[in-house]
Amino acid sequence: MALRDRWPSRTAFIYAAIGSAVGLGNIWRFPFLAEKFGGGAFLIPFLIALFVAGIPLLILEFAIGQKIQKGAVDSLASIKKKLSGLGWWALFTAFIVISYYVVIMSWSLIYLFASFGVQWSEDPESYFFNNVLQISESVDSIGTIVPAVFIGLLISWILIYFCVWKGVRSVSKVVMWTVPLPIILLFVLLIRAFTLDGAMIGIVEYITPDFSALFDTEVWIAAVSQVFFSLSIAFGVMIAYSSYNKKGSDISKNAFTVGIADTVIAIIAGFVVFGTLGFMAEQQGVAFDEVVASGPGLAFIAFPQALSLMPFGTIFSILFFITLFTLAIDSAFSLVEAVNIVISDKIKMKKQYIALIVCTLGFLAGIIYTTNGGLFILDVVDHFVTNISLIVIGILECIAVGWIFGAKKMRSYINKVSDFKIGAWWDTTIKYIIPISLAVILALQLKREFVENYGGYPDWAILIGWGVVLVPLAIAFSIPQRTVKSTT
Ligand code: PFF
Repeated sequence: MALRDRWPSRTAFIYAAIGSAVGLGNIWRFPFLAEKFGGGAFLIPFLIALFVAGIPLLILEFAIGQKIQKGAVDSLASIKKKLSGLGWWALFTAFIVISYYVVIMSWSLIYLFASFGVQWSEDPESYFFNNVLQISESVDSIGTIVPAVFIGLLISWILIYFCVWKGVRSVSKVVMWTVPLPIILLFVLLIRAFTLDGAMIGIVEYITPDFSALFDTEVWIAAVSQVFFSLSIAFGVMIAYSSYNKKGSDISKNAFTVGIADTVIAIIAGFVVFGTLGFMAEQQGVAFDEVVASGPGLAFIAFPQALSLMPFGTIFSILFFITLFTLAIDSAFSLVEAVNIVISDKIKMKKQYIALIVCTLGFLAGIIYTTNGGLFILDVVDHFVTNISLIVIGILECIAVGWIFGAKKMRSYINKVSDFKIGAWWDTTIKYIIPISLAVILALQLKREFVENYGGYPDWAILIGWGVVLVPLAIAFSIPQRTVKSTT
């Protein structure tokens, strides 16, 4: 049997895991959630969700992959055969996420080129919706493919392919550049943001808590799904990456390093975004609330607009969109690698070919989001997958390890290889606290889904949302699994 690939160093693994975690979720999703849910007060549920569920689950995923030395499907199947279904489901979910994630990268590429001459400066909102997306009236008219977004998608996929084509060997080289570069650029943007007139207006808005938000269950749901999305958990990605570690690598130190790095970068990105938008509020003499747009609008409308008002706008726009693209690319290829590894655990085929097939399929699946109605579909799919599939996968992973494998047994392995020992609190967290709180969140979420259609979308669109949750689930659990030799 061929030897398993290995990360050349611990640094390579840490870089790759941080690269996966830090992405569009940090610079695009986190700031708009913080703004939407009470500024600084969002940090409280976010940090609670991080320490109560995020880091313990990251420890759990690192432990599964590293101990069993397989991708998500075979790792979980070696705990119990039926659990292969859970691995497949995580994988399918990863595939769905990647199919739209790369489309957002494509928008960033378009903006990178449009930065020369700051082409959106006349009317940034219309530029985003009419020039870039060429958006239709509503989800009812899907329209046709928008050529620029399609080409951006193709270029992004070609780049992703060349990052993963030799598996861990190419990934470990690429992350040495794609992880530090955007972080350095983010610091440049942070200094720029802090030195702009009016930055304080935005920063105060960002860090001033609105404690009433804490009583809103929606905030808690958003905080938990953001922690999952941002740490790349429940996708099989962290299981895949840690399976390339030696069995003796320090798990708890790795998990805390990745979890804290990801959070610090999200918080810094928040300062960059809010500081810059504060500057724009001052320039335009309007209230802060009027300049912020939610969702995609933040990174692709409000922020570009602020960039266009700055001295040397072109340079800072180029820096911002390079940051966005390079932050995203290592998250994207981590998702591809998670899928690749499962296939290479199953069949003997050259890595290059597996990567080519997965990247081609990912590209094809992404085409729907390049149409005039693509943004609406993206919004529905993202909503259902992040708020439902991820939460259920999280619950099932806790049951798999906490109850079936045994939390105590897993913890004794973790502590054997880690300098920083974790206490019995971890067992309680994995067995009770996470699954129970996730179940409550899920129940609230389901109630919300049945009371009203998400985003006011028509029934058929909501059906697609349920489809991306339930169809992969049904297929996943009907794939037969051969017995995996357990190394435990
Ligand atoms: N963590 C990435 C982000 O915050 O943008 C997104 C992501 C990457 C999610 C990889 C899931 C994943 F497996």
